[in-house]
Amino acid sequence: MGFPAQRPRRLRTTPAMRRLVSETEVRPRQLVLPVFVREGATEPTPIASMPGVVQHSRDSLRKAAADAASAGVGGIMLFGVPEHHDAIGSGATDPDGILNVGLRDVRAEVGDDLVVMADLCLDEFTDHGHCGVLDEQGVVDNDATLEVYARMGVEQARAGAHVVGPSGMMDGQVGVIRAALDDEGFHDTGILAYTAKYASAFYGPFREAVNSQLKGDRRTYQQDGANGREGLRELALDLEEGADMVMVKPGMPYLDVLARIAEVSDVPVATYQISGEYAMIEAAAAQGWLDRDRTILEALTSFRRAGADVILTYWATEAAGWLD
Ligand code: PBG
Repeated sequence: MGFPAQRPRRLRTTPAMRRLVSETEVRPRQLVLPVFVREGATEPTPIASMPGVVQHSRDSLRKAAADAASAGVGGIMLFGVPEHHDAIGSGATDPDGILNVGLRDVRAEVGDDLVVMADLCLDEFTDHGHCGVLDEQGVVDNDATLEVYARMGVEQARAGAHVVGPSGMMDGQVGVIRAALDDEGFHDTGILAYTAKYASAFYGPFREAVNSQLKGDRRTYQQDGANGREGLRELALDLEEGADMVMVKPGMPYLDVLARIAEVSDVPVATYQISGEYAMIEAAAAQGWLDRDRTILEALTSFRRAGADVILTYWATEAAGWLD
């Protein structure tokens, strides 16, 4: 019996050896913390399906932003939870809507220490829960929605967002928002495009997080999980329309799409470890079925290995503490 000529195990023999040859690193600066701010809340409200995540009051939001900044986290992504919903999502374009109020609060708290981002989508604000306005047949009207997105983006920029994140998967959204920002003089406000965003069951807990009114699904605008190549088409369009950064979402079930996009994108690529991914790990860890912290780190590392420059994760502040 001959001895193996190649012994990859040599590079795994000691912690120091493994540290020396490790290819991939996750740093706090690469993490973005998604947060929910709820109109009228005086106390943070726990989200049952996302243990450890809350709907913030304005005060607790400011504190969460300050904590993220001191932990060295790279950015924060705000979602608004309004008290009132209507057919056209008026709260989204209202300068005093909760998301815009939250943006002003966060900028007042952290200034430029974090990249402050805003979810640019109507689903939190509409009474039907869809990401756009509906036509007479009840179908999401792409072009009518673009007009609302343009105004929403401008208000978010005015409220202090460094970056807006269109997440509604309307055709042409990046181009229309870019033009509207430029028209209003917001040349330096960036766009993080949710480029390859798939219709996913893993968004389940997010529905509770934003008190979603949605009945039905988003399959006429979000992508079919069977389609990888289509993600590249969306990438080409978003780059042409002026996206500053692009995103693949969800994270773990779509690592192949992330890798394909990261391979060819000439702008930074983000991924979003979404609510269901968070809930799965927390639930299994609570049962004692998974080692929570190791599982989280392994998942974050997988995004980096697949090519993500930026990771949106509800564990951003906590993980930044361990990574430092
Ligand atoms: C749309 C939006 C959603 C998420 C982020 N932006 C919900 C959806 O598309 O149905 C999901 C985030 C998560 O599940 O953590 N505004």
